[in-house]
Amino acid sequence: MKIIGINCSPRKGQTTQKSLEVCLKAVHNESGDIETDIIEIADLDVRGCLGCGYCKKQLKCKQEDDFNSLIPVLSDEEVAGIIIATPVYLGTMTSQCKAFLDRTIVLARNGSLLRNKVGGVLAVGGVRNGGQELTIQVVQAAMFCHDMVCVGGGTKAAHFGAALVSNEQKGIECDEIGIETARDIGRRVTGLAMLLNHSQ
Ligand SMILES: Cc1cc2nc3c(=O)[nH]c(=O)nc-3n(C[C@H](O)[C@H](O)[C@H](O)COP(=O)(O)O)c2cc1C
Repeated sequence: MKIIGINCSPRKGQTTQKSLEVCLKAVHNESGDIETDIIEIADLDVRGCLGCGYCKKQLKCKQEDDFNSLIPVLSDEEVAGIIIATPVYLGTMTSQCKAFLDRTIVLARNGSLLRNKVGGVLAVGGVRNGGQELTIQVVQAAMFCHDMVCVGGGTKAAHFGAALVSNEQKGIECDEIGIETARDIGRRVTGLAMLLNHSQ
């Protein structure tokens, strides 16, 4: 079983990636048998959907950027969970995150290939109330479009997903509560993925 993290920050190795690493470490602590991987959107050329309809007839996008290489990775039956991590930009996800999510429509149109995968969301903002919760919910809306099963916070630290504050001087390391919410998402995605896969 695998759980994939997708870092939708244009800045590789920064606060969103660090938060995702905390989250995936919690996955490993929950179950040593689960493989994890991070897809760095910043490493890839993933443009916005053109709405051309090409993918209505085939499991492929017409655009010749890097998205097609993600199709087998995301639809792999071994992948039981997907955790999307994004910085908050002007109160919502990054344009890289939205471009990526829109392009996943090819997976919905060709057999609902993400159906029943467990989804978790992590949002990092520069300030405490910078739009993390709204960002999480908008990403979850895309997951619901895929019939994925989204987890909430898991404990009293957060109700919707992982919400962290980066704070330029201090970094996420000083956001103890936020870090706990990242761990919660890792634990909840793992727990639910194991539950769903045992019952199949
Ligand atoms: C264009 C832009 C818009 C931003 N808008 C917000 C915002 O609305 N709310 C917020 O809390 N932080 C905002 N930030 C700050 C980032 O979310 C924050 O610095 C985050 O930690 C960046 O993630 P990264 O280090 O992985 O790139 C914004 C940053 C940029 C560049």
